[in-house]
Amino acid sequence: MLGSLEGGVALITGAGGSLGSAAARRLAQDGARVAVADLRAEGRGALAEELDGLALSLQVESEDSWKAAVAAVRDWAGPMTILVNCAGIGDGCGLEDLSMSRWHELLAVNQTGVLLGMRFAAPEMRSAGEGSIINLSSIHGIVARSSGGSGASAIAYAATKGAVRLMTKAAAVDLAPDGIRVNSVHPGYVDAPMLGVEQSAARLAARDRTPLGRFARPEEIAGAISFLASRDASYMTGSELVIDGGYTAV
Ligand SMILES: NC(=O)c1ccc[n+]([C@@H]2O[C@H](COP(=O)([O-])OP(=O)(O)OC[C@H]3O[C@@H](n4cnc5c(N)ncnc54)[C@H](O)[C@@H]3O)[C@@H](O)[C@H]2O)c1
Repeated sequence: MLGSLEGGVALITGAGGSLGSAAARRLAQDGARVAVADLRAEGRGALAEELDGLALSLQVESEDSWKAAVAAVRDWAGPMTILVNCAGIGDGCGLEDLSMSRWHELLAVNQTGVLLGMRFAAPEMRSAGEGSIINLSSIHGIVARSSGGSGASAIAYAATKGAVRLMTKAAAVDLAPDGIRVNSVHPGYVDAPMLGVEQSAARLAARDRTPLGRFARPEEIAGAISFLASRDASYMTGSELVIDGGYTAV
């Protein structure tokens, strides 16, 4: 039986990370050809080899980097039909302890990176005649409850993830006439803390506040990403898929 993504050509940013690598494996398993893109070299080559994919160096806040990555995918497998914007950085600082340099860094990677990804994917998907873009937001794009060790709000992270939520809806409107769907995914706490974000007491407390009482497995997020990429989600665009064990329900 053919996989649900057979014929698809996917680029996954942040594919060397926890959720990106799980998404890359799931999309490949479901039949897509997968380009494994990350800023960091570690992991990306081995994963691309494992999936018979393409390893790409990509810095998401750089237009030149996107131009080169998109062209490399086209040369390798044809125009991209699936984009998963998964690259991201975390920060647990609140309003008054956040440095301005960190603020600009989060905006560049988490927000501008997603904007550029969607912008560079659109012509490829238009030429392919179909496309699905999945943007990684977070429960922190919906609520601003604390998750960092300091008990602060993670204000920069929340700002960028809230922006991803609304940029997704705006791009869905812009790209709907071309049959390109754009949706956001909002994971709760995953059993794979983002690089640089410690397994703090506050994070464990947040897990305990989650109605299902546990962190998500990366594979549980990857399954939702694959669904949004597939034709089973053909009437979904501009929507936000919350996968949080009930965290935002209470
Ligand atoms: N882990 C969680 O609990 C969680 C929860 C909700 C949402 N998310 C979101 O899911 C996405 C992936 O999270 P993760 O847990 O896999 O994180 P991770 O830290 O494991 O992976 C992130 C990847 O992004 C890459 N990256 C960082 N800056 C980059 C840049 N400028 N250009 C290109 N690549 C860059 C890193 O090298 C890394 O491989 C992020 O957007 C994150 O905000 C994560």
